[in-house]
Amino acid sequence: MDVAFQRCILPSCGATYGIEEVRVECQQCGSLLDVAYDWAKAAPPAKLAEFDRSLFNAAEPAAQSGVWRFWPLLPFAPRASLVTIGEGQTQLQRSASVGQFVGLERGELHLQYEGLNPSGSFKDNGMVAAFTHARTIGAKRAACASTGNTSASLAAFCSVTKLMRAVIFIGSGKISYGKLSQALDFGALTIQIAGDFDDAMQRVREVSSQLGIYLVNSVNPFRLEGQKTIMYRVLQGLGWQVPDWIVVPGGNLGNSSAFGKAFAELKQLGLIDRLPRLAVINAAGANTLYELYERRGLRWNDGAPQDEITSKYYAELDERQARASTIASAIEINRPVNLNKCLRALADMRGVVREVTDQEIMDAKAQVGAGGLGCEPASAASVAGAKKLRAEGVIAPDERVVCILTGHQLKDPDATVAYHTTDQEKFNQVLGKRGVKRASFANRAVAVSNNLEEIIRAIQLYS
Ligand code: F0G
Repeated sequence: MDVAFQRCILPSCGATYGIEEVRVECQQCGSLLDVAYDWAKAAPPAKLAEFDRSLFNAAEPAAQSGVWRFWPLLPFAPRASLVTIGEGQTQLQRSASVGQFVGLERGELHLQYEGLNPSGSFKDNGMVAAFTHARTIGAKRAACASTGNTSASLAAFCSVTKLMRAVIFIGSGKISYGKLSQALDFGALTIQIAGDFDDAMQRVREVSSQLGIYLVNSVNPFRLEGQKTIMYRVLQGLGWQVPDWIVVPGGNLGNSSAFGKAFAELKQLGLIDRLPRLAVINAAGANTLYELYERRGLRWNDGAPQDEITSKYYAELDERQARASTIASAIEINRPVNLNKCLRALADMRGVVREVTDQEIMDAKAQVGAGGLGCEPASAASVAGAKKLRAEGVIAPDERVVCILTGHQLKDPDATVAYHTTDQEKFNQVLGKRGVKRASFANRAVAVSNNLEEIIRAIQLYS
């Protein structure tokens, strides 16, 4: 057996494929694939603390990567072939103020700030892995459907390295300007489809398979290998201690799936002795996972998920012509492609799923911003979800909780400005129409005339 191979996630199938094959589903049964390892050959370190020392010497490009720092835990490509644009140099930061907002008086709230990646979101962690795989098999073009961050990340990797041409599919009017501007600026071929993300996702799969273009959405199992490293960095930030909770927004469910795999593997390797619990947070306007998991009882079921529950729900969505709708445009997704992998993660990590309203998302986002780490609306779903779970008593007041901030504040300045504005029309246009009634934590700009005395009076009054 090779060090790494691909394997169907369903134990009842278990078909395997070589690492050099380009697949986004099992040829036997159509399920998702994992990248799997023969750990005896891969020989990972005996202790996580060994990662405190760099694997690479300073002159090697991979030394600049917070993903490849953990290469022995994702050794699917030779060290000499690793691509990097400096991704994954992100930070775990404890936040007393956000902790107080969430209700963790005696506990700890940590924010894993993935907005610090080169393209401004966690996607770079996964993209570097898919991109490296694409390069090892000689791909010339790579495609994705995106609510904006995957496309920004792919476009960045293509333009920095010039190793591939980016082809991106986006829904029309469904992407924030911060993200669209990245794809355009970086020179990606941008296909705007009259439809939403779910439509774009279906089309990009068809087009990639017909034209032989390498697909980098998170159905690509290599993507998720890179995203595992977010959890390794969380552990490292906590001195290699396992927190009580990981709280993450859920869209296409790639992150939650990757996090589950990361911890399951670490446990299997004897590098940790317990898994944290997982909370996946949907926006209420795009709540497929919440509906299926919490209301309809869909479970991983030891590798035999009841797919008929999912198909029935999707048929209902079709019948109602229901479309995902939330201010958190990054997670405006009704048909998450990694659903079954996420169910597995929820089973392994004793997971829960919650939905939060756009009002809750925007208030949580303002609290995160006030704490100094600005994030986009989707990211704040994690904090809003933690607050909800704390209020329910599911998260205890003395627990250690890590919320993942998936994308940077500047990805969607419209949402932020509309929240803080004094212009009611602007507020209504962006937020009011989504049921956001008030900006509970608005920091309003103070309007003054161009007059020295008046300016001084305003500063004295408000500071
Ligand atoms: N947060 C942000 C900022 C995102 O961009 C996404 C996904 C998610 C959360 C959800 O993560 O899919 O792993 O559950 N954005 C994708 C995109 C869909 O196209 O950029 P997930």
